[in-house]
Amino acid sequence: MSEEATRSRVLVVGATGRLGGSLVRASLAAGHPTFALVRPHHFALPDNIPFKSLAAAAATLLKGSLEDYPSLLQAVRQVDVVICAVPTKHALEQKPLVRAIKEAACVKRFIPAEFGVDHTKIKISDMDHGFYEKKAEIRRLIESEDIPHTYVYCNFLMRYLLPSLVQPGLDAPPRDEFMIFGGGNTKGIFVEESDVAKFTVCTIEDPRTINKSLYLRPPGNVYSLNELAGLWETKIKKRLKKIHITEEQLLKNIHDAPFPLKMDLIFIYSAFVKGDHTYFEIDSITEGTQLYPRVKYTTVSEYLDTLV
Ligand SMILES: NC(=O)c1ccc[n+]([C@@H]2O[C@H](COP(=O)([O-])OP(=O)(O)OC[C@H]3O[C@@H](n4cnc5c(N)ncnc54)[C@H](OP(=O)(O)O)[C@@H]3O)[C@@H](O)[C@H]2O)c1
Repeated sequence: MSEEATRSRVLVVGATGRLGGSLVRASLAAGHPTFALVRPHHFALPDNIPFKSLAAAAATLLKGSLEDYPSLLQAVRQVDVVICAVPTKHALEQKPLVRAIKEAACVKRFIPAEFGVDHTKIKISDMDHGFYEKKAEIRRLIESEDIPHTYVYCNFLMRYLLPSLVQPGLDAPPRDEFMIFGGGNTKGIFVEESDVAKFTVCTIEDPRTINKSLYLRPPGNVYSLNELAGLWETKIKKRLKKIHITEEQLLKNIHDAPFPLKMDLIFIYSAFVKGDHTYFEIDSITEGTQLYPRVKYTTVSEYLDTLV
C-alpha cells in the first residue's frame, strides 16, 4: 500500500479562504489526500485566484456548501478528518457539518473553526457583543454529539493587528508615535497563518490531542506592547513618542467607537490589558511548539523585518 493510501484523508471547509487555503497546502505538504469543499460560485468563475491556487496545489475540489446538506454529507463520507475554517460570523453554519459528521460516522477528528482565543478562559465575555457565543455553541454541540475533536487556539493571527503593531486605525507600522494600552507589560501572542495550519495538521493523527485543545504559544511570539515598541524601535533605529492610554480611557474609547473599530479595541483590551492570551497556565502536552518542536515558525521579529 502506498504511503498516501495510509494517511488520513482530510476535508477542508472554507478552503477558498485565507486560513483555509493555508490548511489545504499544509495538509497536502504533510502527505494527506486533501479535499476542498468549494462553493458553487467559484466553479462558475474558475479563473479566480483561490480556486486556481487550490487546483494548482492538487487538492481534490468538491462542489458544495454548508447550506447544501447532501453535498456536505457526500464530502464528509470520503474522509477521516474534517477541518473547518469559516469566519466567526458564520460559525453557527457549522451545525449541518456536525450533523453530517455524526451521520457519516467515519470521521476520526473534527477541527472546527476556532483559531483564536479559548473563549472558556476570556475575562471579557460580558463585552464581546456575542462574538464568542457562536463558537461556544458549536463546541457544546460537538461534545454533546460525541464527535472526536481538537480545538486549535492560536491567539492572534499575524495578519490581525500586527501589521500596524497594534495601533488601531493604522494599516502600517507607526513611524513617530506608539500607543501603549494599559500598563504595557501584559503579553499577547501572534502566530503566522501558515504556521497555524502546519501545527493544526500535526494534530490530526496525534492521539495526544484527541478531544483536547491545542494552544499555540511560540516562545518567539509572546510580546507585551512595551516589548513590541522596543523591538520596532531597534529595527527602524528611531525612538518613538509613547502615547499612554489608560485602561479607563481605553474602555471609554471602546464605548464610543463605531464597529468594526470597537471590536479591534475590545480584542486589544482582552489581550494586552486583561491578559486573555497568557494569564492561565497550560501544560506542555497542549502547547503546539512543545508537542511539535520540529515545526519551524515565523517569529514576530522576523515578521517585523518584512515591514521595515
Ligand atoms: N485569531 C485571529 O486573529 C483570527 C483572525 C481572522 C480569522 N480567524 C479565524 O480563522 C478562521 C478562518 O477565517 P478567515 O479570515 O481565514 O476566513 P476567510 O478568508 O473570510 O474565508 C472564509 C471561508 O469560508 C467559506 N465559507 C463561508 N461561508 C460558507 C458556507 N456557508 N459554506 C461553505 N463555505 C463557506 C468562504 O467561502 P467563499 O470563498 O465561497 O466565500 C471562504 O472559503 C476562522 O475560524 C476565524 O475565526 C482568526
